[in-house]
Amino acid sequence: MIEDLNSIRSDFPIFEFNPKLVYMDSAATSQRPKKVIDKVAEVYTQYNSNVHRGIYSMAEKVTEEYEDARKEIAAFLGTSAEELIFTKNTTESLNLVAYMLLPKLKNGVITITELEHHSNILPWRKVASLANAEIKTVAVDQEGKINEADFEKKISGTSVFSFAHVSNVAGTTLNAKKMIRTAKAEGAITVVDGAQAAPHIKLNLHDMGADFYALSGHKMLGPTGIGILYGNKKLLEDLEPPFSGGEMVKEVHAEGQEWNDVPWKFEPGTPNFAGAIGFGEAVKYLEKIGMGDIELYEKKLGRALVEELTKIDGLEYIGPMENRASLLSFKLRGYHPHDIAAFLDTRSIAVRSGFHCAQPLHEKFGFFDGSARASLYFYNNMEEIESLARALKELVKL
Ligand code: ALA
Repeated sequence: MIEDLNSIRSDFPIFEFNPKLVYMDSAATSQRPKKVIDKVAEVYTQYNSNVHRGIYSMAEKVTEEYEDARKEIAAFLGTSAEELIFTKNTTESLNLVAYMLLPKLKNGVITITELEHHSNILPWRKVASLANAEIKTVAVDQEGKINEADFEKKISGTSVFSFAHVSNVAGTTLNAKKMIRTAKAEGAITVVDGAQAAPHIKLNLHDMGADFYALSGHKMLGPTGIGILYGNKKLLEDLEPPFSGGEMVKEVHAEGQEWNDVPWKFEPGTPNFAGAIGFGEAVKYLEKIGMGDIELYEKKLGRALVEELTKIDGLEYIGPMENRASLLSFKLRGYHPHDIAAFLDTRSIAVRSGFHCAQPLHEKFGFFDGSARASLYFYNNMEEIESLARALKELVKL
């Protein structure tokens, strides 16, 4: 269990530069420990050169670091390294897999849920229009939990089932393994948006059984501009790369070419190698603290967040009471979410306001102006939750 919170916080330079900061916007982007920042600086200052291209020693060093980061992340996720494609972020990963699967979607059915972020709605709308596929949406109940009967009904005949492992608005955590098993029994290919799960939950993707899993480095202590698309090796080998160019190919002749092996056939052009190496360092840091401990600690934070904030008069929130991620999207009677965020900013509390790229979900719950969202990570603590509750009570009294 995380005991020495002060020593953890001192690993993050942002808190040294902003001593009063109560950072509660980690679902948008997390803070980074010094080790990660230093690692990225090390790449650029000590062995900056392109990966997979040069044969001089510096180029070999950077290539080795890049591929070592992939191995590190693979061990963290319970996959093999060749199944991990480096992308820019979860959004790019979901777009990539949607276009990879396009040839399999002709006149097919794509099933998503009402919990989705725009990144897990819009790429499917695009490929659905190209493939003449239908999109079905599994309903959630009043607590933001999956309506099991609707899921059972809609999963039948599905070609691709894509869902958020953890909702960035409702905080609902889905039983991914069970839903994947059901979807696969129906012959569906499964895709998981893991952007809000991977930073907080100990994962084993082979055990979970997903065909594809997307995540972002910047939400889990890594640099911005680096993400992952995990893909089952057999599928990756069979699927065509939607995007092509340098380094994703073994041979190119006046006529014809041979694609590179996986995962490189899906990584055209110069990748964000410094970002990938920094992400490897972030994963090492998370491993050192222990994902199991992070999960336990955040459960406590999440529970306290709901308990404290629901005491506030006129506050309504989206999502379940129990078994939720350590975030809360809420509104306060009489205040626009931007007013709430602006007021909290005067108390050095950083929360996000708006639709958090999940407008249909807000509309479903009648949050037509969006919500204010406090989203926590393991560097937050109980005192900060109390400060947030105190500030909101102050606002209500104004
Ligand atoms: N999708 C991120 C969020 O929920 C950016 O804030």
